[in-house]
Amino acid sequence: MQNVNKITEKINSKQLIFIASDHAGYEMKENIIKFLEKKYDVQNLGCNSADSVDYPDYAVDVAKKIIKNISKYPNCKGILVCGTGSGMTITANKIKGIRAVNCFNSEMAEMAIKHNDANILCLGARILQFDAIKSIVDVFLNSEFESGRHQIRINKIHNLTEN
Ligand code: RB5
Repeated sequence: MQNVNKITEKINSKQLIFIASDHAGYEMKENIIKFLEKKYDVQNLGCNSADSVDYPDYAVDVAKKIIKNISKYPNCKGILVCGTGSGMTITANKIKGIRAVNCFNSEMAEMAIKHNDANILCLGARILQFDAIKSIVDVFLNSEFESGRHQIRINKIHNLTEN
């Protein structure tokens, strides 16, 4: 019975997405949530207005949520939006187990999953239009890691430091 419950839970459960932004990404983040919320379990971790905030606080929050949830929800992902995507990427990659990528097009998003098994997508709201962001997010959430030689390379990255 327990196994049946687990299978039912898996079939019924939507993919878990943690999303956050700073002030520069606030409006774009709200639009991404609307784009995703029917199909995904989207957890909005702020910010909650366009008032100035510090992007590292939000990047760390999403990164830590991913690490906390990854054993129960192996496919959970994060999305971080700031002005350029750079600050969010730099910060999120400080957290052990995180592979955050700043993507400018859907090809980068596809390879970030297939080869790098990325678990956080960072986006620049001041760089990209919403149409481009929609296709980047869509590809990021629907591509699959190819493993094999790519897993060996990822292990080498994580063996470099405690991160
Ligand atoms: C905020 O002005 C801006 O610095 C931030 O959104 C981001 O682009 C940093 O990388």
